[in-house]
Formats: sequence, structure tokens, C-alpha cells
Amino acid sequence: MKKAMASGGVRVRLTGIRRVFPVLDDAGRALGGSASGLVALDGLDLDIAPGAFVALLGPSGCGKSTLLRLVAGLDRADAGAAVVETEEGPGGAGGASGARAPIAYVFQDAHLLPWRSVLENTALPLELAGAPLEERRAAARAALLQVGLADAGARYPAELSGGMRMRVSLARAMVTRPRLLLLDEPFAALDELTRSRLDDQLRALWAELGMTVLFVTHSITEAAYLAERAVVLSPRPARIVADHTLALPAERTAALRTEPAFAREVRALQEALERGGA
Ligand SMILES: Nc1ncnc2c1ncn2[C@@H]1O[C@H](COP(=O)(O)OP(=O)(O)OP(=O)(O)O)[C@@H](O)[C@H]1O
Ligand SMILES: [Mg+2]
Repeated sequence: MKKAMASGGVRVRLTGIRRVFPVLDDAGRALGGSASGLVALDGLDLDIAPGAFVALLGPSGCGKSTLLRLVAGLDRADAGAAVVETEEGPGGAGGASGARAPIAYVFQDAHLLPWRSVLENTALPLELAGAPLEERRAAARAALLQVGLADAGARYPAELSGGMRMRVSLARAMVTRPRLLLLDEPFAALDELTRSRLDDQLRALWAELGMTVLFVTHSITEAAYLAERAVVLSPRPARIVADHTLALPAERTAALRTEPAFAREVRALQEALERGGA
């Protein structure tokens, strides 16, 4: 496994992020303005280095998906700034720069188009970007190869297992060679074995391409296995209760899961979650 190249990823900087959702009455009207809204995030700061692999852990409803959506530019903060910095200079989240796509997002569900083949699903981001047919097919084939689905291009989503669908979703995210990969509990619905295989594939993709990864998970062991750094959040409004560098070797293999060093890191994250009130 090659060492991750810092140059492949972007820096992400969150400063004083606040996000308040309006509380609605039965008729869908906002109750009492933003002062009485639901505060999901309140003054959160986070600085992520280019090419870092960061896991975000925190109790259900604390604001993890909200945070990811803000970084992706799918939502706007009420105060503070979420900046995705490219090497060419700072740009707002979603701002394109360079040949590589800035951001790709993997959701908990694969969200594939049922009427499109695996190859066509994978090629979709390039199609939307206006890439020529042969170029996007070649890139989609390469991305499918990377997730171990080289032979599945002609199949349709309904013919695939849950784990295969998730791998197509990952290939579709990787096809643009993003500089920032955001994953929101992508493997949560899968069985333990499939999940750990996909963890390995994700980690290998990161080592190869050096993109910045922000990975939301509820699994402490998954966070410890995948990430270089784990950020543990408190219940809503999310604040950082621990920002933990994982003292584990760069090479992550199944054997690591049974080693004392791994158990120590898992315990440290568990304690941080408990300290935060999870
Ligand atoms: N669009 C929205 N409108 C109103 N409230 C919202 C909206 N999105 C999120 N919330 C609320 O903000 C809080 C944080 O939600 P978020 O989805 O970020 O949590 P989460 O940490 O991702 O939880 P989980 O681990 O269960 O996915 C929750 O109380 C949720 O109900
Ligand atoms: Mg969520």
C-alpha cells in the first residue's frame, strides 16, 4: 500500500459554525423565529489537513449529517464559515477548481438509478459534467475495478446485493477522483464481513489517491480501523469532546483488529463518547 499523498486532498476549515433549524407547527409554520429553533450546531471549529482521513463519531441526532451537508455545500450555516480550500486558493464549499472534482458524497443508502446499468450509474457524475462517452466509460470501468466490481458493469441495481450496491455508490463517488470524499454512515446497513471488506477497499483508495476523507460512523471500531484522526462529538448541539490522533500503523489489516494497541484506541474513543454524554 502506497503512502497517502497530501497533495491529493483539500483542506477543510470550519469556523464558528452555527446551524439552527426552524421548529414547525402542525401547519408547517416556523414557531417564533430562529431564536427558538432547534440548535444543531453552535460555534463548531474544525480544521482538517489536506489528505487527512478523519472519522466523525457522535450520538444519534447530534448534528453529524448536518455538518457533512454544510461541508458539501448542500446546506448553509446560520453563522460561521465552512471553507473547502483547494491548492489554487480558498473557495467556498462546492466551488470547482482544477481538473479533479472538488467533492463527492456517499450517503447511507446507495441511491442508484434502477433503470441504469452499474456502468451507467458509475459514469453518471461524468455524464453530468459533460465528459465524452468513451472517456466516462473508461473512467467508470476503472472505478469499478477499484472496488472489485470489474465484471458487474452490465448488471442492474436490482440484481446486486446490498454490499455490491454500496460498492457501486463508492465507485460513482470515486469516478471523478474527488479531492474531498464525504461519507455518511455508508456501510451501516451491511453485515460485519462485507463492512470490513469495504473498509479495506476505502482505506486502499485513500492510500492510492490521497484525497481528504471525512467519514461519519456510529461504529467505534470502524472509526479506529479506518481513520488517522477521530473527532468525537457531544449530543446536540454538537461540540468536540475529543480530537484524537489514532496511534496505529499506516498499514491496516484484519490482524490489527485483535491487537492490544487497537483495543486501547477503541477504549479511548468509547470513553470520549461517554464523557461527552452519549
Ligand atoms: N432539515 C432539517 N429540519 C429540521 N431539523 C433538522 C433538519 N436536519 C436535521 N435536523 C435536526 O438536527 C439535529 C441533527 O440532525 P443530524 O441529522 O445532523 O444528526 P446526526 O448526528 O446525523 O444523527 P444520526 O446519527 O441519527 O444520523 C436533529 O435533531 C435533527 O432532527
Ligand atoms: Mg446522520
